[in-house]
Amino acid sequence: MSDNQATLNDGGKTITMPIKSGTIGPDVIDIRKLYAETGKFTYDPGFTSTASCDSALTYIDGDEGVLLHRGYPIGQLAEHSSFMEVSYLLLNGELPSSDELSQFSRTITRHTMLHEQLMTFYRGFRRDAHPMAVMCGVVGALSAFYHDSTDISDPVQRMIASHRLIAKMPTIAAMAYKYSVGQPFIYPDNSLSYTGNFLRMTFGVPAEPYVVNPVVERALDRIFILHADHEQNASTSTVRLAGSSGANPFACIAAGIACLWGPAHGGANEAALNMLREIGTPDRIPHYIARAKDKNDPFRLMGFGHRVYKNYDPRATVMQQTVREVFASLNVTDPLFETALQLEEIALNDPYFVEKKLFPNVDFYSGIILSAIGFPTAMFTALFALARTVGWVAQWNEMISDPGQKIGRPRQLYTGPAQRDYLPVDKR
Ligand code: ACO
Repeated sequence: MSDNQATLNDGGKTITMPIKSGTIGPDVIDIRKLYAETGKFTYDPGFTSTASCDSALTYIDGDEGVLLHRGYPIGQLAEHSSFMEVSYLLLNGELPSSDELSQFSRTITRHTMLHEQLMTFYRGFRRDAHPMAVMCGVVGALSAFYHDSTDISDPVQRMIASHRLIAKMPTIAAMAYKYSVGQPFIYPDNSLSYTGNFLRMTFGVPAEPYVVNPVVERALDRIFILHADHEQNASTSTVRLAGSSGANPFACIAAGIACLWGPAHGGANEAALNMLREIGTPDRIPHYIARAKDKNDPFRLMGFGHRVYKNYDPRATVMQQTVREVFASLNVTDPLFETALQLEEIALNDPYFVEKKLFPNVDFYSGIILSAIGFPTAMFTALFALARTVGWVAQWNEMISDPGQKIGRPRQLYTGPAQRDYLPVDKR
């Protein structure tokens, strides 16, 4: 490999491929001409060695446990910023001035209501439907209501669709919750913050005023910041792939929600709390550690391990601090937090987890806070989807604005039968 190109020896023929450098992070070998020159594809199931796009949004150094949004470390954003500010940053590239932030917040606030007819959709679901099932359906249906923001070639329409999605997600998620518990939907109150409004729509009832607890509001806002974007993860790649065909943004985000739902991805926060409940008390930890290490047992420690982080997930650090703050200010505690802390300590000292570089990820502690705030477990992934929507729309916008953008179309290593002739049914 030379300074700016890599060479590949393919059966005696030497192929050179350019090496591209980003601002930070690993260089990439540009293999786009490989098939034309060799007739061969690369093979990388799970994309462990593949960069699928250029992106200026989010940077992760998994070995060092670094996460930057537009260059700003996640710890600084979580401590000093707000979800609205981070949303502006992700969408526009720079932190907003005070006027820009007020204007952006006002714009988002103006889009918080749902079309009244869209609300009748909820009644078609069973009351015990998972909120993520409802989110997939209702978000996908947005494209049937907001026709004036589905022309993806128009940057103004793209931005309006992005604002709508960010603004309507809390309303959609809160209504999914309200429907599941049989309470009336609560309309948005635009005098509240983005997160305060969501809390009121979720936990308020028409019979009495709802007072937003500022500590809970701040903690949830921070959780939203921690989930806002995370580079080319599975759901973001899903949104990009869906969008690469020219699909409208509402359909693309519905696809992202579907992908996020899986327990190996966004569903892990729900699975992690369920696991902690199953473990129960610290004395049962060794049994579960042994199960996690047993190759013949499919059990995994949920909230542990990450495709990119081979160090402590920086979001898990903030999340652990936030649990302590919320517990202190609400004057509550949860024995599962003690179990989680001990599980973490035992795992971090166990050679199996050390050698495989398995550390707590963002989902390990988030369920404990969300549960303390009062969210049922089934809502956890819906909250993740709400927050990740800003990352999804920012990544989608970045992709559509890229003049070199092409439809995403991977190839394969075919392992099925070679061509054969059809036999009529009586001859088989
Ligand atoms: N518990 C026990 N063993 C684990 C765990 C775990 N949580 N995670 C990985 N391993 C082991 C695997 O068994 C494998 O062992 P092997 O090499 O002996 O076969 C090795 O570590 C590597 O695991 P892979 O699954 O190959 O790693 P991959 O990068 O594909 O998976 C993933 C990452 C899906 C996150 C995995 O660590 C996992 O399933 N964790 C639990 C689910 C979870 O918490 N997901 C949330 C991720 S964060 C997010 O989406 C917001």
